[in-house]
Amino acid sequence: MRIILSESKEEAINTVASTLIEKVAEHPKIVIGLATGKTMEPVYKRWVEIAKDKNIDHSQCFFFMLDEYLGISADHPSSFKSYIKRHLLIPLNIEEDQIEFPPVDRPLKEAGTFYESRIKDKGGIDLQLLGIGQNGHIGFNEPGSLKNSRTRVVDLSDDTRVVNSAGFIGEMPVRAVSMGIETILEAKSLLMLVTGKSKADAVKFLLNHHDDSSCPATFLKTHSHFNLVLDPEAASKINLKI
Ligand code: GLP
Repeated sequence: MRIILSESKEEAINTVASTLIEKVAEHPKIVIGLATGKTMEPVYKRWVEIAKDKNIDHSQCFFFMLDEYLGISADHPSSFKSYIKRHLLIPLNIEEDQIEFPPVDRPLKEAGTFYESRIKDKGGIDLQLLGIGQNGHIGFNEPGSLKNSRTRVVDLSDDTRVVNSAGFIGEMPVRAVSMGIETILEAKSLLMLVTGKSKADAVKFLLNHHDDSSCPATFLKTHSHFNLVLDPEAASKINLKI
């Protein structure tokens, strides 16, 4: 794991957005796994700004969403599909056939294997963008998830439902489809951004524990290309100097 300590939240966001742009410019056919959440909103904003400024072509890229709620329609304003359309696809003119979403409309039994086969067909994910939940969840791999978990239907924890209900329109779902930890570990590289005080405990736990299912993010530390970008608040409970 490589930790990148930033001097400000803006610098952390810029580091992540610039990394994504560099990768797209170097590898136009890159396959990127996308994450949602408040943390990622300014990243997508900056990504769009740099892409427009530098005229970066995204027409050959392919994207996979990390997770999606179950029990709401795909065009619900709080679905992750709506989120990513709003923040990235529409601003960058990315076509719908350049992205795959967890198949929430298929029989749920086969949703996981179907999604995994789509990832395999595309040659795997080159770069997976990640945030972290206050409880250490990754995607919707909640505490208790196993390291060898694959894409599947998951129950959302009460903690996550409370945190995510801020800004959610309507009733918060109880389940989701999420890539599993092992699925995420198969991405060629992982890029995690953590910002804000509310994540400082999760970051401290992540750095001090290994393979601990009470904080699924700890499973990612065995990945050989795992970059963790922190802003000063997220890093406020650990002893690292820039
Ligand atoms: C969500 C998503 C995660 C995200 C996390 C943190 O529920 N499933 O992929 O990393 O929670 O979200 P936020 O950035 O809003 O704190």
